[in-house]
Amino acid sequence: MGSPQYAQELDLRWRVLRGPLGFGRDAVAFPFEAESLHLVAIEAGRVVGCVLFHPEGTATGRLFQMAVEPDRQGTGLGTRLVRALEDEVTRRGFQEITLHARDTAVAFYAGLGYEPSGPPSVEVGIPHQNMRRDLPAPGA
Ligand SMILES: CC(C)(COP(=O)(O)OP(=O)(O)OC[C@H]1O[C@@H](n2cnc3c(N)ncnc32)[C@H](O)[C@@H]1OP(=O)(O)O)[C@@H](O)C(=O)NCCC(=O)NCCS
Repeated sequence: MGSPQYAQELDLRWRVLRGPLGFGRDAVAFPFEAESLHLVAIEAGRVVGCVLFHPEGTATGRLFQMAVEPDRQGTGLGTRLVRALEDEVTRRGFQEITLHARDTAVAFYAGLGYEPSGPPSVEVGIPHQNMRRDLPAPGA
């Protein structure tokens, strides 16, 4: 957690996710940060994308803090990060991923096979939709 990559990941998360909503930099870390899987994309030594996964038991867990550097958005990087995360947690035996999508990102996740689950909600002051996806059996 003390690595330069983690500092860059936190900076990216703040600039892309929390800063634009008016939150300070101290509001970017989650209580379950240390027990989550952190996957980052690095280009030319710079963290340009990230996605986190928090296990909730042994079969399911939550994808959160998905962010791509603004000048790299729309280039397929977000898709590659989600697919890499899915591969890794499938390998670790998980069977389902859940997430809380911002309304503006629902179409992105739907395109990756995630389905809405439950009613819409408001988090960090903006509309969200819970979504989920069954993972394939390992090696399938
Ligand atoms: C949402 C986000 C993670 C997607 O990553 P990305 O690298 O930009 O997405 P990709 O280039 O892999 O796009 C894959 C597909 O989703 C579509 N897409 C990407 N972002 C989208 C969005 N916000 N709304 C609708 N469609 C979107 C792309 O057009 C593309 O469609 P195609 O396959 O038909 O060409 C990224 O844009 C981002 O960081 N946005 C700001 C932060 C955010 O909203 N994070 C999610 C919080 S829940």
